[in-house]
Amino acid sequence: MRKISTSTQSDIEKAAKALLDGSLVAFPTETVYGLGADATNPEAVSRVYSVKGRPTDHPLIVHISSRELINNWAIDIPSYAQKLAKFFWPGPMTLILRRSYLAKDFITGGQDNVGLRVPAQPIAQTLLREFEKLGGSGIAAPSANRFGAVSPTTAEAVQEDLGRYLDSKDLVLDGGPSLVGIESTIIDCTNEVPMILRPGAITTKMIQELIEKIPIINTANTLIRVSGMLPVHYAPNAKVKISGATNAGEGFIALSNIPTPANAVRLAAPNNLEEFAKILYSAFRAADIHGLSTISVIPPNGDGMAHAIRDRLNKASG
Ligand code: TXA
Ligand code: MG
Repeated sequence: MRKISTSTQSDIEKAAKALLDGSLVAFPTETVYGLGADATNPEAVSRVYSVKGRPTDHPLIVHISSRELINNWAIDIPSYAQKLAKFFWPGPMTLILRRSYLAKDFITGGQDNVGLRVPAQPIAQTLLREFEKLGGSGIAAPSANRFGAVSPTTAEAVQEDLGRYLDSKDLVLDGGPSLVGIESTIIDCTNEVPMILRPGAITTKMIQELIEKIPIINTANTLIRVSGMLPVHYAPNAKVKISGATNAGEGFIALSNIPTPANAVRLAAPNNLEEFAKILYSAFRAADIHGLSTISVIPPNGDGMAHAIRDRLNKASG
């Protein structure tokens, strides 16, 4: 069934009501599309897990409209985390904080902390505000893809991945292509110093400049469960190969200044790192649509966004 809805004010109001009634609403954010449910409704949240095919011990991020609502969901917020929230929200950043009573085990995977994000995308903002006006506290939303697959950056990609698992009352709000294109930076703020669990558009340098003397731990290895940290993740059906040696007939992704190898299928030629992140997942999807068996990618050099892109490429290539 086709689920994609336009996102006029009245569509968004309808979506907010649907959420409050326990239905699921996929919605655009500036990072990727999320599959939303009322974060206080155990039945609705359990449908998120079954629609995604995701193990229930993987926690969900709770989305709120403004940092003023942070105290509803979190306690003992360190001052560096308050600073991060103040500067980077609304935006592509998720903070892991000690949970309040509101964040139940079915949201946190039984952990004592909760992931919170204030997205900037205007449709996401309106949806959150309408939902809160109706008495809602927050929208739990993982990326709107099947477990382990590529995150969607368009409403069509959500429909393709999840449409067949959604009910007649669920819907997908269309907000066009996501601006950032890769998932939010996740920062664990439950210790004295912040720990970056997933790199993203809010870079280590940006964080370090803001919190100055406090050291940052950058980790790929953590005991906290982050599903994006499974060995293979963000993966298309095609095999992702990080290499310069490209065979004929393979898909090819690289910055635009790198020429396409003979007989390779150019899937993307981004001009800069921001464009690279923005089109990476749609290029992965295009490879699958064309039935390519392998995608060869030349990863960008450097830190910041390049680091975040390489993180996703490494995960996708296993
Ligand atoms: O950009 C994003 O973050 C998107 C949009 C929709 O907000 N959401 C997203 O959610 O990427 P998801 O569930 O696909 O990835 C979030 C990751 C998961 O690996 C999850 O396990 C981890 O964050 N996570 C969520 N809450 C956590 C918590 N309390 N502690 C540790 N990891 C957490
Ligand atoms: Mg995900």
